[in-house]
Amino acid sequence: MFKSLFSKLVGTYFIIILITIVVLGVLLSGYFEDFIFSRRADELKDDITDLNPYIEMYAMGVLDQWHLYNYFKLADRYKNSTIWIVDDMGYIWLSYASSEEETDKWKEQQLTAEEFAKIMEGESIIKEGKFGERFTVPVLTVGVPFTIRGNIVGAIFMHSPVEEIEETIHETYKSIWLAAAMSAIISVILLFFTSKLISKPLKEMNKITREFAKGNFNRRVNIKSKDEIGQLAFNFNAMADSLNNLEQMRRNFVANVSHELRSPLTTIRGYIQGILDKTISAEKSNKYLSVALDETKRLNKLIDELLDLARIEAGEFPLNIITFELNELIRRVIISQEERITEKDIEVDIDFEREYFYVEGDIDRIQQVLYNLIDNAIKFNPKKGMLSIRTWDFEKTVFVKVKDRGSGIPKEEIRHIWERFYQVDKSRSSEDRGTGLGLSIVKKIVNEHGQDVWINSKLGEGTEFIFSLKLAEGS
Ligand SMILES: Nc1ncnc2c1ncn2[C@@H]1O[C@H](COP(=O)(O)OP(=O)(O)OP(=O)(O)O)[C@@H](O)[C@H]1O
Ligand SMILES: [Mg+2]
Repeated sequence: MFKSLFSKLVGTYFIIILITIVVLGVLLSGYFEDFIFSRRADELKDDITDLNPYIEMYAMGVLDQWHLYNYFKLADRYKNSTIWIVDDMGYIWLSYASSEEETDKWKEQQLTAEEFAKIMEGESIIKEGKFGERFTVPVLTVGVPFTIRGNIVGAIFMHSPVEEIEETIHETYKSIWLAAAMSAIISVILLFFTSKLISKPLKEMNKITREFAKGNFNRRVNIKSKDEIGQLAFNFNAMADSLNNLEQMRRNFVANVSHELRSPLTTIRGYIQGILDKTISAEKSNKYLSVALDETKRLNKLIDELLDLARIEAGEFPLNIITFELNELIRRVIISQEERITEKDIEVDIDFEREYFYVEGDIDRIQQVLYNLIDNAIKFNPKKGMLSIRTWDFEKTVFVKVKDRGSGIPKEEIRHIWERFYQVDKSRSSEDRGTGLGLSIVKKIVNEHGQDVWINSKLGEGTEFIFSLKLAEGS
């Protein structure tokens, strides 16, 4: 029945309101009934206590019956009450009722001892019922001691029909239930609108989520409230933004990869085709084949790097952290590049602050970082350039700096160089043209180690990369 949030809210609130109103109504009604009864009893008690002096005067012959009855009538105030004056034996020696035969009916009747014994002891009584079946309708009876000169000589009873009181109670009930019904209606209207207010943005988000599922990340939720729903909407929109970015990145990535794969493949295909249909002469074919071979190497490198990146991102490259000596690793990477260094006649300047730096890290991954940075430094150094490498430590951290004397990177490009496929000069056509993945791999690996990598570059002067590593415990 309650499928939507809206109907759930309305349903639950409605049940709560209904229960509250019914419980309140029942409690209030009961309370008012008791209250009205005790008020009426107090009234009757006051009335007959006030009558005591007149009855006393009548008993002593100072006041005649006609005057006394007038006082009774005044006390009764059209409540249809019956008044009895009872002697110490329980005989009703004087009675009053609204009609004459009623008045006479009670004369000389005797009450049982238990009916008035307590009064003779000075207490007053309150009773509800037919007073020993003496009345045909239920009455509220109040009895108080009758005193002459301060001595208890009998009792005064006043019986008032309950019917009259019940009418007042019914009037009160009516008001209570009318108020309850009105507040129920107002609350239902209010809760209808508040529930709508709560469920509307959720419905909207729901709708937009379905659009997301279809791949359309352009829709946003338009909710400005500051409450939890507003915060949810804000975060929802932020999520949509990042999904959109991600989608954009994915598209760019696919476009970049396709482009990077296509150009070497086109070259290779063109050369092979040329050799096969003899447009490329037999003497030149060797040269073209070796270019094609270089291109396949580049393709291999690209695919290796892409796989590395994908694995690191998917967390499938758990770091194998060990303690190793960093300076030695740096020397090994430089030696592996010796041929290129001498070919470009690059001066190498090494400055290790300590002879040994034992660090914690994944040696293969750090070798990859060093290789990429040194590879860039050699690649972007001019002939007769300079490659300088420094290591030093500071507060349990070792820093490595790889510096070249290349052309530097324009300021506005610096923040992009960590992006995949980003290359400042796309048109570089020399044989060592890269893919633009090296630095993004560097950053990923260093960050995986919980460390950082920084760049300083000045156009025309050169570039330096610095990255940190954790110094091994005890070294
Ligand atoms: N030492 C440097 N001097 C000048 N520019 C640099 C230097 N290092 C990187 N860059 C710039 O940053 C870009 C990205 O570098 P990255 O190492 O990611 O790619 P790449 O070297 O072009 O290709 P790959 O490393 O995949 O072979 C480079 O193309 C280059 O424009
Ligand atoms: Mg590189």
